[in-house]
Amino acid sequence: MKNKPLKTGGVKELQAVANMIASARSVAVLTGAGVSKESGIPTFRDAQTGLWAKYDPQQLATTAGFKSDPGLVWRWYDYRRQLLASVEPNNGHYALVELEGLVPKVTVVTQNVDGLHQKAGSHNVIELHGSITSFFCFDKRHPAADVAAGLSEPPRCHCGSLIRPAVVWFGEMLPEEAFDRASEAMFEADVILVIGTSGLVQPAASLPLTARLRGAKIVEINPERTPIAESADAFLEGPSGQILPQLVEALKACGKR
Ligand code: OAD
Repeated sequence: MKNKPLKTGGVKELQAVANMIASARSVAVLTGAGVSKESGIPTFRDAQTGLWAKYDPQQLATTAGFKSDPGLVWRWYDYRRQLLASVEPNNGHYALVELEGLVPKVTVVTQNVDGLHQKAGSHNVIELHGSITSFFCFDKRHPAADVAAGLSEPPRCHCGSLIRPAVVWFGEMLPEEAFDRASEAMFEADVILVIGTSGLVQPAASLPLTARLRGAKIVEINPERTPIAESADAFLEGPSGQILPQLVEALKACGKR
């Protein structure tokens, strides 16, 4: 039987989630594009403003797209990488850093490739979909050195293959080590915070749900309910840049740690 999610966003609900976290030994956090939205980075699926509302993922985020027009794909990631140079983590990222001082173990599992959790200071971050600031060789997957911004075509590896961004494209496997570590973090977590993700992309979306089968509490934080809310024990409605700092304050007020 489904647990009935708490009602959205109010002080009582926030306090109930803070109480859950106060008695947790390990918290796992699954983040998606929404957590970086208040830093000025567009999400993928928000109507109008989402990247996939303007760009074709088949062309820009698949190996077939890269093979057919490597320059186009390269320039799109280069543009996004340059955008990152001018953005900063937001209060949501910083609140997750603060959480590390309030819970024995916090692991951030992110689908984001923007590096903002690390830039904010989170120590234990697992990048499920890679990183937009790293590169590897398309054919042989050699790791590649940093590439200067502003090139209009991908450079070539010493083996002759094109260099590509080290992000996961549709149809590709997740990096095995990252996925194993993420599964482990979910497995040992008492509470899992699912923040700013539509919960539509597998296998990331299933990670919290499998953990729930062995009793982990799931909390969704999002301005909108996603399919994850159906299986969540609590739903805190709102932008993570506002909700997370409030949650951290409520947790401090629990005074248990
Ligand atoms: P989506 O764009 O699918 O979902 C973003 C989520 O963030 C939505 O549920 C929004 O309601 C929510 N949101 C919007 N503003 C928010 C805010 N201020 N605070 C919190 N949440 C907010 O992004 P992801 O779920 O991350 O993969 O997408 C998953 C994967 O699909 C991405 O990693 C990317 C994409 O295609 C690849 O490129 C392989």
